[in-house]
Amino acid sequence: MSHLWSGRFDALPDDEVFEFQASFGFDRQLFEDDVTGSLAWAEALAGAGVLSRGEATAIRTALEEIRDRGRADPGFVEGPDEDIHAFVERQLIERVGDAGRRLHTGRSRNEQVSLDLRLYLRRRTAGLQRELVALVDALASRAEAAGPALMPSYTHLRRAQPILVAHYFLAHAVAIRRDHRRLETAREEADALPLGSGAVAGTSYAIDTAALAERLGFSRVVANSLDATADRDFVSAFLHACAGTMVHLSRLAEDLVIFASEEFGFFGLADAVTTGSSLMPQKKNPDPLELVRGKTGRVIGHLTGWLTTMKGLPSGYNKDLQEDKEAVFDAETTVRSSTRATTLVVRSLTLDPARTESAAAGLALATDVADLLVARGVPFREAHEVVGRMVRDLLATNRDFASLSPADWRRYHERLDADAAGRITARGSVTARRTPQSTAPDAVASALHEVRRWVDERTVATDH
Ligand code: ARG
Repeated sequence: MSHLWSGRFDALPDDEVFEFQASFGFDRQLFEDDVTGSLAWAEALAGAGVLSRGEATAIRTALEEIRDRGRADPGFVEGPDEDIHAFVERQLIERVGDAGRRLHTGRSRNEQVSLDLRLYLRRRTAGLQRELVALVDALASRAEAAGPALMPSYTHLRRAQPILVAHYFLAHAVAIRRDHRRLETAREEADALPLGSGAVAGTSYAIDTAALAERLGFSRVVANSLDATADRDFVSAFLHACAGTMVHLSRLAEDLVIFASEEFGFFGLADAVTTGSSLMPQKKNPDPLELVRGKTGRVIGHLTGWLTTMKGLPSGYNKDLQEDKEAVFDAETTVRSSTRATTLVVRSLTLDPARTESAAAGLALATDVADLLVARGVPFREAHEVVGRMVRDLLATNRDFASLSPADWRRYHERLDADAAGRITARGSVTARRTPQSTAPDAVASALHEVRRWVDERTVATDH
């Protein structure tokens, strides 16, 4: 078989070397986008007078036929070709001969591959975002179902202060929404037409790049052909968004692994999202969550690997750039499957409010006692000291604030009367919060309302 570049060569490439540098094994995923780009390029060449109207029509008909065959039968996208661009061109020439041989006029695979990947990411990012919306929806449902239930919050994985369970779920929803936003930013980064850049210096045919951009749905044209043929910042942005998403999924997974353990028992995992042990009959393991946590490593690896590939490249296209695709495809697949698995787990979570509420009380109310003293005019540092002494005594006798009599309270400080004691509860603690981002029930209710609106807007928007 001859190659796209065989003219200059005396000998065929070594089979193993050819195989090593070929990308058809994975860039066939760009089939659809490569055809889309070529359809538009044929139009642009006709507009520039390089192709006759008849040739352009023949190319269009053949490309559409190729696209339809590829859609109907993925096995069609096969062959000894170096990459997807060579495959489409070969198919075209087989159908229309010389007209097909004219299609690559003024165009380089260097810009073509950038175009294909930009089209691919633009097309696929929305699907990932939809998965994130579904996860936010599931988290919002758990928040809603939790109602007024209380749980402890943690710092250093030590009990800190009482919060609403709803506040906990909404915290993860807020982080996932940032990932949604970052994917949007990555999509905007990819939204520039690279065609017209040629191999590196631009093209000498009268290509109307603005019309081409509009036809392909790009909002702008790249600014510099030398930069554009080697620019993959849109890939870095996408991988960064993917890695960030995985970090959030992983942290949620880690929380749920811990909170659903026998030791905590806050949440229950449905049988359908757990696995058993081949040896220990009692086990019900959170394997999907562990796997989400585990897969985070490889997506972070794609980001760091890719940035490392980019960092040493001299100006202009270099074959190293071909490494972009496997990173993108695997990151996308991993984020998608991990998000879906996480959503299924979250949807099926059950809550044990008796356990979360008893864990939310106890010494987690120490700050509230200090706040009470502050409200009664005691400087905070002094209040902290007083309550610290109380905590020390309670720990020594394995008790909590609820066990103290009015006389006990007063013994620690004259301003701690019976009325004060009655106020030191987990419920009192959350209702005392004032700021909009706090766990105060009103604040959480409006946060939940806002998340619901965010989900609804996106669910409606994708329905049509
Ligand atoms: N398969 C190549 C890639 O993915 C396409 C561009 C090839 N260009 C070149 N000059 N070898 O980057």
